[in-house]
Amino acid sequence: MTGSSGSKRALRQRLATQWAESVENWFSQDQSVRTGFLDTAILDALGDARGKNVIDIGCGEGRFSRVLARQGASVTGVDLTQAFIDRARSLAGDTESYLVDDAERLDQVPDGTFDLAVSYIVLVDLLDFAASIDAAFRVLRAGGRFVVCNIHPIRSSVPGGWIKHGNDKLFYPVDDYMHEGPRQWSWGDRPFINMHRPLSSYLTAFRRSGFTLEGLHEPTPSRDQLEAHPTFDDEFRAPNFILYVLLKPG
Ligand SMILES: C[S@@+](CC[C@H](N)C(=O)[O-])C[C@H]1O[C@@H](n2cnc3c(N)ncnc32)[C@H](O)[C@@H]1O
Repeated sequence: MTGSSGSKRALRQRLATQWAESVENWFSQDQSVRTGFLDTAILDALGDARGKNVIDIGCGEGRFSRVLARQGASVTGVDLTQAFIDRARSLAGDTESYLVDDAERLDQVPDGTFDLAVSYIVLVDLLDFAASIDAAFRVLRAGGRFVVCNIHPIRSSVPGGWIKHGNDKLFYPVDDYMHEGPRQWSWGDRPFINMHRPLSSYLTAFRRSGFTLEGLHEPTPSRDQLEAHPTFDDEFRAPNFILYVLLKPG
């Protein structure tokens, strides 16, 4: 085994286990950036989910899967972290089912099954993000849509966030942008890794898997969202999120 395949294996292992070790952090995390901002953008990008067969890839504890189910979709949520799937199952309604599976393979999911697929801030957690895009392509029917929300690449090149003077946010640093790879930051008292890639790597992977790019959005909060959450004004300075709307050609 070479050093690089050994370190890749160690990184894969770390990425696979860090969520299981952070379940309590996640359960106690404020979700308002999702509930008060991103959900709207993702639901708009997905379009009418009523009566649709939807897969939520990297569903966590199923919060957004339940949102989709309330809209009338039949939802399959997939996540690698058993504790999240246990929680999702305990809260599931009749039109939801949940699987422990790897987003990079979706081994338990048959081909051509879904009208819509969503990946809600998951690609930054994956070593082989291109494999996950291929897997989403495989499980969608022809004409199906894949909505990917991810951390914006301008926010993932440097861990640690805004450069501040006191409480004033001066700027958000970008560096080593073209160097794909892990970036370590701290979540509470734990080290945590996100994978950084430049924008061109994502667009290349989408095209290679066969998707057509229908839309690319850098969501910003509406006036009402901003009124309810004034700190979301950051999104106008250095957007934290990016949304790709992809079509599996018919
Ligand atoms: C930031 S959370 C997002 C959860 C959910 N999509 C949401 O936005 O509320 C990332 C999720 O990806 C899951 N994950 C990480 N690596 C995975 C993999 N290889 N396969 C499937 N899920 C994975 C984690 O367990 C975690 O639930």
